[in-house]
Amino acid sequence: MIRGLKTVKILLDEQQLNEGVEKLAHSINQSYGSRPLTIIGIMTGSVILLADLVRKLDMPMRVGVLQTTSYHGTQRGPLTIDADMMLDVTQRDVLLIDDIFDTGHTLTAVVEKVRQLGPKSIQSAVLLRKTGQQQVAGQPDFIAFDIPDEFVVGYGLDYNDEYRNLSYIACLEPEDLAVSDQGS
Ligand code: IMP
Ligand code: MG
Repeated sequence: MIRGLKTVKILLDEQQLNEGVEKLAHSINQSYGSRPLTIIGIMTGSVILLADLVRKLDMPMRVGVLQTTSYHGTQRGPLTIDADMMLDVTQRDVLLIDDIFDTGHTLTAVVEKVRQLGPKSIQSAVLLRKTGQQQVAGQPDFIAFDIPDEFVVGYGLDYNDEYRNLSYIACLEPEDLAVSDQGS
């Protein structure tokens, strides 16, 4: 039982996640071959996926991060992108890594920002895509799982910066949100 969660509805367990990341890595390895890659993890949600995925990829790579923020609890706020710490991407093959493609606004904005820096190519990979939520035209190039429209936590995904450390993906039930909102 996880602190603060009344029920734990597991959507993807550790083994399913491992198999999904394995398949994701296989597709990326097939697509890039031995071309050197610049991998940029979108923090903080992609932190676990980034660590697991890069160890399953075969090409020479540089690994960097940028930071986005948009959620406060389950409510969307203004999107900010902080790329100050990012690697140089000019004339590089860039692969962006994110935890979840929900409305798609975050990834679309990050792709646009990175594109302005003159990469040779830019693609994206996500762990999860929420069914039916997209409000943008583009899609990620690599997707491990399609999931129902539920608020999920674990394996990097948070609710108010908690639960990122869960080794599985769980749905937050309305009663869990109420408990978490009380800070317990
Ligand atoms: P989008 O801009 O709507 O595609 O949302 C992307 C960002 O919102 C993700 O990178 C996550 O950080 C966050 N997000 C969206 N849905 C969830 C969720 O169900 N749980 C936790 N974070 C989420
Ligand atoms: Mg995120």
